Amino acid sequence: MIDVRHRPPVGLLPTPSGPASLPAGGSLGGHTAGQLLRLCEVAGLGAADAAGYAQVLTTALGPVALRPLSLPAPSRSFLSDDHTPVEFSLAFEAGQAPSLRVLLEPGGGVGGLARSGRSGLRAVRALARRWNFSTDPLDELEDLFFPLSPQGPLALWCALELRPGGVPRVKVYLNPAASGAERVSATVREALRRLGHPQAFTTLPESDRILFLALDLGDWDVPRVKVYTAHNNLSAAAAGGLSRKEDGPDPTEIEAFFRAAAGLENGQDTVLDRRPGLACHAFTESATGLPTGFTFHVPVRDYVRHDGEALERASALLRHYGADPAQLLDSVAAVTSRRPEDGTGLIAYLALAHQAGRPPRVTVYISSEAYRVRPPAVLSPRPGAVQEA
Ligand code: TRP
Repeated sequence: MIDVRHRPPVGLLPTPSGPASLPAGGSLGGHTAGQLLRLCEVAGLGAADAAGYAQVLTTALGPVALRPLSLPAPSRSFLSDDHTPVEFSLAFEAGQAPSLRVLLEPGGGVGGLARSGRSGLRAVRALARRWNFSTDPLDELEDLFFPLSPQGPLALWCALELRPGGVPRVKVYLNPAASGAERVSATVREALRRLGHPQAFTTLPESDRILFLALDLGDWDVPRVKVYTAHNNLSAAAAGGLSRKEDGPDPTEIEAFFRAAAGLENGQDTVLDRRPGLACHAFTESATGLPTGFTFHVPVRDYVRHDGEALERASALLRHYGADPAQLLDSVAAVTSRRPEDGTGLIAYLALAHQAGRPPRVTVYISSEAYRVRPPAVLSPRPGAVQEA
């Protein structure tokens, strides 16, 4: 069984009466900021950086940060299963300290997509002023992704990579269905063209849905434009054939990751039939027009009985890639006091990223569960699987 050591709350935790300018613990902002502060401590970030990042999180959430957790989630946010508009992740690279990231829906998604889009743009522009980076790539796409009557599951999400030093790297996620489900291909094709990747769209694999277009903004060595595609009923073999990146990864590596993350024994041939696998292709300056990055995501939460199992798989994958799972287990304890075996969905996705010129990276997505813990699953036994008593 996975042994998660519980951590006492850190001193920086907001209190209803204290001088801290963060919302109280029983509110959405207080809950998620508290998780973030403890995660920062696990990640070894300094108290001042952590406090700054927690402040950015609650500011970006806006008024819903003050909303008591006793009320329902502020919107039907697609960001997480229980509609918490915040999710954490840890990216592991062999021999390096993992990097901590937070994904959030500015404004918490309240008031519908049009208003949410305006909150989103305002929040990203505020970050850009604060850290002095350009929003030009986003501004160039405004008419495509922020029409008067937007459609689809989100308006704008924003992710921050929380580096030491208090200046995060910023990523923005946009909704290709904003101008209509029937315009998704045209929207993504035009966005990629405007961003200087006129051939990119034609290189993408066939998919059931294009979920996001994502932009790196701010201080990146090589900023990427990323396209996320969803693939229903995906088999390990089909996953192995998804990458359009030049020079690998080898299909067998993706297949092995698929099996390890989905919990399939070698030779067992099952498909991801409960929730689709996701591919993400990253485009950077390149002579060939081919993607320079490929990430494969397994929605592990729908293929486990409980989070103990998800953590076992995550830990095995991290060890396989030369990373130490200790910080993952400490991070889980920083986010929740429940036992992993008592729910499912705390670990939302496991992903494997290959980016040109860098070692492979394993990313583990950790839910906030501010509103609900999904009970352990009773999975129908797979043929040939041994059932436990
Ligand atoms: N909740 C959505 C999903 O599960 C979107 C999402 C949130 C997501 N975090 C993610 C997608 C991380 C991929 C990776 O699909």
